Amino acid sequence: MTDNRNPEPARKYHEATKHSYASIRSKPHLLDWANQPSPFKIYPTLEPLRLPSEVRQTGVAALSAIAESIPAKTNGVPDLEAVAQLLYLSAGITRTRKHPGGEIYFRAAACTGALYEIELYVVCGDLPGLPAGVYHFSPAEFGLRRLRAGDYRGVLVAATGAEPAIAHAPLSIVCTGTYWRNAWKYQARTYRHFGWDNGTLLANLLAVGTALKLPAKIITGFVDVMVNELLDVDSQREVAFSLVAVGHNAVAAPPAPAEVSPLGLETIPSSRQEVDYPLMREVHAASTLGSTEEVAAWRSATPLPGLPPPEGAVVQLQPLSDGDMPREPIEQVILRRGSSRKFARNAITLEQLSTLLNRATRGVPADFLNPPGTQLNHLYLIVHAVEGLAAGAYVFHRDRGVLECLKQGNFRAQAGYLGLEQELPADAAVDIFFLADLRATLKRLGNRGYRAVQLEAGVLGGKLYLAAYAQQLGATGLTFYDDDVIRFFSPHAEGKSAIFLVAVGKSAQRSSGHGT
Ligand SMILES: Cc1cc2nc3c(=O)[nH]c(=O)nc-3n(C[C@H](O)[C@H](O)[C@H](O)COP(=O)(O)O)c2cc1C
Repeated sequence: MTDNRNPEPARKYHEATKHSYASIRSKPHLLDWANQPSPFKIYPTLEPLRLPSEVRQTGVAALSAIAESIPAKTNGVPDLEAVAQLLYLSAGITRTRKHPGGEIYFRAAACTGALYEIELYVVCGDLPGLPAGVYHFSPAEFGLRRLRAGDYRGVLVAATGAEPAIAHAPLSIVCTGTYWRNAWKYQARTYRHFGWDNGTLLANLLAVGTALKLPAKIITGFVDVMVNELLDVDSQREVAFSLVAVGHNAVAAPPAPAEVSPLGLETIPSSRQEVDYPLMREVHAASTLGSTEEVAAWRSATPLPGLPPPEGAVVQLQPLSDGDMPREPIEQVILRRGSSRKFARNAITLEQLSTLLNRATRGVPADFLNPPGTQLNHLYLIVHAVEGLAAGAYVFHRDRGVLECLKQGNFRAQAGYLGLEQELPADAAVDIFFLADLRATLKRLGNRGYRAVQLEAGVLGGKLYLAAYAQQLGATGLTFYDDDVIRFFSPHAEGKSAIFLVAVGKSAQRSSGHGT
């Protein structure tokens, strides 16, 4: 029996992994470079099937691709080139940089510490150019390794309690998180990073799906053990975190094979030795769903209330219309994206900020967001330099398209402090914090809601990245002092929890460098 309905483990995990001024100083963590994990999962006994490397140009403007989704029942079956496009633009290697200790392989989506702990697997029926099977995606070779031959989609259908998008998807992508690869640097906080780093990747995947005219939906409710067994991962080390149904077939997938046998495939250990952080595995275990009935009940949870109506002064946002917005295609924006390493203290315009917020928050197709269009996270802003907007703290009411002013003032120094005493949040034009009512979320969705709230923040954060770069701005994800963030935005934010932070502004150098 799992105890998803008792949200104590998620609360405990969140509390124990908070950063504070004191925790950073009392628990310094030195990196053991000689034991750094490899960023790739390697199956030495399987030959990769190389994917076509040419990036198809859809020509669809990034600002449209991130804002829209293709209606669920639109028929569409990806071919091998489309599969390659989806994988490359969400998890492929887009740039490399040499450093004294080796080379960093930067990927299409932002990831904490450039550690890339999210692995992708493809589960498909017969597709044009790709036979039915279960495949592991290898970014290093840009190829797929076939783990199982045949149509195993029925396992995902069964695991999700016949979720309609999964049942009719010609292809699903399973995203896993590998604990040690990220915990080497971030220790127990890695479980939060699973959601963030999976989320930024999914923002790209959803946008590319839209550009390819394929419906796509994120599924976080599934019987964990069934999916982990299908991939045959060692679930002490690597666990399925989310699924994405891609495309739509009028005909549902065939039933699951009677047996899914273990594969026993060899994989190369990622480093000499691994350090265990039991807290992460505890919150994961407590958020597992054990049966299809439990999944179905979980999915039908009632919606959360939104923000109360504004009480303070409001500023109407002024997003650019479709006709006026920059039209750089999604592929090019993704390839150009990189986290800003320094911001110039220059202002952005109210239109740019409005477009950013408006385009990034038009709804994420996900099984935990019912009715569609709802959101678990709320966006709180510290505005430093936006033409036409007084510097200060704001909360975004997306249903009304307004920013409610919480307090005016120059808060650059406070923002730098809140973002773990880094320069980036102090120099940005605006810092966008994601805050959630964790108590209500966990009450509704149990511990599984913890996965969902972190994942949603990552998706929205990833969309903000893309919306910034599409407007020739820069962006970076950041980490933060949890409770100080809530204090800063209180009393409005009282009772909420800090989940995520993205800083947006004008990059100081045109070509952004990279760091962690
Ligand atoms: C959720 C999240 C948090 C991050 N936190 C920080 C941070 O605190 N400081 C920092 O300099 N970079 C931070 N980054 C940026 C990563 O270091 C960067 O994404 C990674 O090095 C990969 O480089 P790229 O985004 O340029 O591809 C963060 C990124 C994400 C997605």
